[in-house]
This record gives sequence, structure tokens and C-alpha cells, in this order.
Amino acid sequence: MCGIVGYIGDGSAAPAILDGLRALEYRGYDSAGLAVLTAEGLSVRRRAGRIDDLALLIDDELMSSAIGIGHTRWATHGAVTDNNAHPHADASGRLVIVHNGMTDNVTELRAELLADGHRFASETDTEVIAHLIGIQRDAGASLTDAVGRTLRRLAGAHSVLALAADEPDLLVGGRVGSAGGLVVGHGSSEAFLASDLPAVVRHTRNLQVVEAGETVTLRTDGAEFQDLNSRPRHRRLFSVPWGPMAAAKAGHRHFMHKEIHEQPETLADTIRPRVTLDPAELRLHDFQLPVDAKAVDRAVIVASGSSNFAGMVGARYLRDLARIPASAEVASEFAYAPGPLSDRTLIVAISQSGATADVLLAVERARDAGAPVVALVNTVGSELTRTADATLNLHAGPEISVAATKTFVSQLGALYLLACHVGEQRNILPADQLARRLADIAHAPLAVARALEIEPQIEDLARRFHDAVNFLYMGRGLAHAIALEGALKLKEISYIHAEGFAAGELKHGPIALVSPDMPVVAVALNDELRAKTLNAVAQTRSRNGRVILVATEGDDLEDGIADEVIIVPGTPSLIAPITSVIPLQLFAYHIAVWLGVDVDQPRNLAKSVTVE
Ligand code: F6R
Repeated sequence: MCGIVGYIGDGSAAPAILDGLRALEYRGYDSAGLAVLTAEGLSVRRRAGRIDDLALLIDDELMSSAIGIGHTRWATHGAVTDNNAHPHADASGRLVIVHNGMTDNVTELRAELLADGHRFASETDTEVIAHLIGIQRDAGASLTDAVGRTLRRLAGAHSVLALAADEPDLLVGGRVGSAGGLVVGHGSSEAFLASDLPAVVRHTRNLQVVEAGETVTLRTDGAEFQDLNSRPRHRRLFSVPWGPMAAAKAGHRHFMHKEIHEQPETLADTIRPRVTLDPAELRLHDFQLPVDAKAVDRAVIVASGSSNFAGMVGARYLRDLARIPASAEVASEFAYAPGPLSDRTLIVAISQSGATADVLLAVERARDAGAPVVALVNTVGSELTRTADATLNLHAGPEISVAATKTFVSQLGALYLLACHVGEQRNILPADQLARRLADIAHAPLAVARALEIEPQIEDLARRFHDAVNFLYMGRGLAHAIALEGALKLKEISYIHAEGFAAGELKHGPIALVSPDMPVVAVALNDELRAKTLNAVAQTRSRNGRVILVATEGDDLEDGIADEVIIVPGTPSLIAPITSVIPLQLFAYHIAVWLGVDVDQPRNLAKSVTVE
């Protein structure tokens, strides 16, 4: 998945595009490029490397242009080289495109073009698409119609932007399938097209979404939409509340650090507008369950990565608070083996970005089987919000760092509220119990604030442990999901191998790995499984394992039970995952800082994974 940006207006295009690309760098950052139209024709600059490397190639000639397109790449077809960086031109060199997506039928299309005498300068599928658009234009189509007709031929999911020298007052965008979105932003005398909101909301909050199967023709003063057969479409204008300040680092060294520290507020933003304590009421104003809660006989949570680990906790919430059999499934697995589903199976799709291809596909499969779908999403207006029957927004604000932190915690908060809501509707939670549960979650932001106070201890631990090359993470019950999340955070941003597992499984295999060189992080919540987890800690230590134990305030631990003990504030057990993940986020962050890793943009990753 890549980031694409287009600009047209009365300003200089190149700086606006670079600025937009920086905001999208979370989607991919191995190469970058842009093309603008000047009095001399199309000018292209592109190279392997970051946006800052591309900025060095911008000269006065490029600065004079008021129309252009740009790209930040996450390589799929073709290695990370200058030649494979976008934009790519058609055979005539009179049009260029940038592209986000993967062409599943590229082999056939390339072979067809080669047989017709086309030659390619790169290994990318994008160049093949550019040539196909060029062929349509040679046959007399406008740029818009040529993009639409070409998109019809591509298998897979795509967004493209195109710029042609002989149609100098417009940009064309097009989308097919769920390839990470395309948004139009309207300023007073300029307009933008980009893969995602952060590139646009710094200039304007007046937006339109390009839907799958559509093209948009963008001029300074407006946008026209049509389907891929050139029939007009109407798209409504909407506004988003996020301003540019929400996306700035606010004095923190990294976005991840800022986002970890924002969690008391962002969790409160998820919870507080929906919960009152006196009288105790849960009001999901912006949400309606798309099925009679009493008719639901099973819930399946589908998600990827960290969102999947949040889903594991959410499944437990639904089981305990709504008495619904519930499980969490990895979206990419569920999509191809969903098992029996019906209109009584409640699907809960969780995705920070709302653009994860695996999750969108899982939802499509569920909808095909008639199952009602609820989405938990942070990105307003994202694809998932449009395909689900109902959406519970996280309201956590933009998360810029690639590693999910505040959105994970807000997902836990939103899942808790969802489970309470379903429990209430099923008459499982009588008024007094609901009041108690609501009070528990309403106090969670404060507990998160207190958990953050342990940062100095974690910094010191990171100093002492950052040279370990492997880690084990274990926990049981709700802490199992937190152990998996802690291990994922560490591997993502520090590149240290970390394996998470259910602590009860230690004796079934992982114990063979225990040695002084492989520290073990154990999470023991103050719940019915605490003693079992502490047994696993004892088994580890009796084999010379070094244990960092995350335990709860008020827990009466034996002296010397672990090599290091991190204490998080005591909370009711269902809230404990929310506080116990905080030290693991901080630990991963400080280890990565020690190792000098690019914390916010770790190698090979991207924030929105819009390919399967
Ligand atoms: C982890 C992380 C990824 C995402 C996963 C799903 O820090 O960021 O594992 O959780 O790619 O992304 P969303 O939630 O956008 O569907």
C-alpha cells in the first residue's frame, strides 16, 4: 500500500504534494516521487528513499507549477529502486500516473502489451496501467474515460491519479476495489486528491470520498464523479473535525510517544460522551445495533494485528457481559474459511484505519452470508464504515505512528461499551450491574494516567534489556491477548524477535527456549488466573530464566518472585488489559529508542495495509 497525493490550484504544487506525502508516509516510505506540469511539459522527479530525499530534487522550474501528483511507495511489484519509484508514464510520455494497489492480472496484461510492441522501463504493474491508459487516449478517450476504462480491466484493488500534458487544467483520480481510499479536499482556490485524510485535513475539512468503481475529474473549482462506464455520479460533501494540530508531535520526540501519553484523554473521548454515572446510562448516540440483540446466537470478531488482539479481549467482554458465545478470528483466515454464518451471527469488524484489505474481505464474506456487521473504526469516513451495517467510532483522533497504541486502548474501551450495550439489550445486565460496569470503565482513563507514571522505571529496564535478541511474552486469559500485543509492539519497532503465548502453554514447548539470554515478560492480572501465571513464572525462574513481571497494585507478591516487577494500578479484572498494556507499549518504545530505530516508521511496515 502506498500513499498518493494530487494538487491543483493557484499555489505551487510541489510543496503541497511533498507536504501531503509526508502526512501519508505512514502508508509506505521506501521510495517517493512527483510529477508536475510546467510550461515545458511534464517534469518527473523520483527516487528510492524518503520524502526528504525527494525534496532535494525540487528545483525552481518545478516550483512554478500549480498542478501535480505525488507518491510514497511500499514496494509490491518490483524492488526498491529509482526506476520503480512512481510516477510512471505511458508509451508517449505525455501522461503520468501514481498508483496504490496490486494488479493480480499484471502478467497477462504485460504480455499483451509486449506483444504489441510496448517496452517498459520498470518492473512495476503501475507502468503497465499507464500504458493501458495511454492506449485508450490514443483511441480518442478523454483522460477521465481512459482511466475508467483501464480500471475495468484490472483485477485486484486500485487507486490511481493521472495527469496529462494535453489536459492541463485537470487531474483524474480513479478507484476500483478496496485499495485504501481516495479523498477529495476542496479549498478556496485549490483542490486536493489523496489516499487518506491526514494529507488533506491540513488544508481543508471539506471533503468528498471517491467510492470504489468511480473516477473523479478534479479542477480548481470542483469535482465531477462518474462510474467506470462514464455515467455521472453524485458524491456528498462532508466535513471532519480533525485539525492539523492533532497530527503534530506536540513536543514529543516521536508520534508514538505522544500517542502513548495521550491515552488517558483519547480513551476518555471514546467512553465519556457515551456514559453517564448519575443516573447510570449508556447512550451510544451514534450507533444502532443492526440486529435484535436477543436474536444473536454467536458473535465473531474479525480483525488483523493489534486490532485482532483487542478482539480477543472483546470476545471475552461479549461472553462475560452479554453472555454471547464469541470468538476472535484473524481476518485473513476468516475470509477464506468463515464456517457457518447466518443472520443471527453478529460480526464485529475492528480496524483502526477502516481500510485493511483483509478485514474488508472478511466483512464482504460475512455480508454475503447475511450476517449483520458492526464496525469499530477510528478513521472517519473510511471504507469499513461504508460497508458495515453500523459503526462505533473510536474518536481517538489521528494515529500517525505505525505502531498502534492509543487506538488499541480505545478499541478495548469501545468493545467494553459494545458488550455492555448488547448485555443490556439482552437483559443480561440488570440496572445495578450495568451501573457498576459503567463506573468501572469510566474510571479507566484515570488508571491509564497512573499507569503512565511508571515510565522512568521502564526507561531504566529498556536500558538494561535492549541488548537481548529474543524475548518471550506470556499471560493467561485476558493477559494472553496483552502478552501477544506486547510482543508484537516489540518486534514491530525494535526488530527484536519476540514470541507471545498463553502462559499455560509454557510447559508444552516454549519452556525449551528459556535461558538467561531470553528474557521473559509475564503479565499476571489480579484475576482467577493470577496464581497459575505465577506458577509459570516460577517454572521459568527455576530454569534460570530472567523474568520481568507485570503485576497489579495491591497484589501480595512474594519477595524475589521475579527479576523485575512492574506494578500497574489495580482495577476490576475486565479493565486490567487496558492498564497492563501501557508498560508493554512503553517498554517497546524505549527499547527502540535505545536501538536508534525509526520508531514511527519502522522498516517494511505501513499504517494502512490495503493489500491482501
Ligand atoms: C500493530 C499494527 C498492526 C495493525 C494491523 C491492523 O501496531 O499497527 O498490526 O493493528 O495492520 O490495522 P487496522 O487496525 O488499521 O485494521
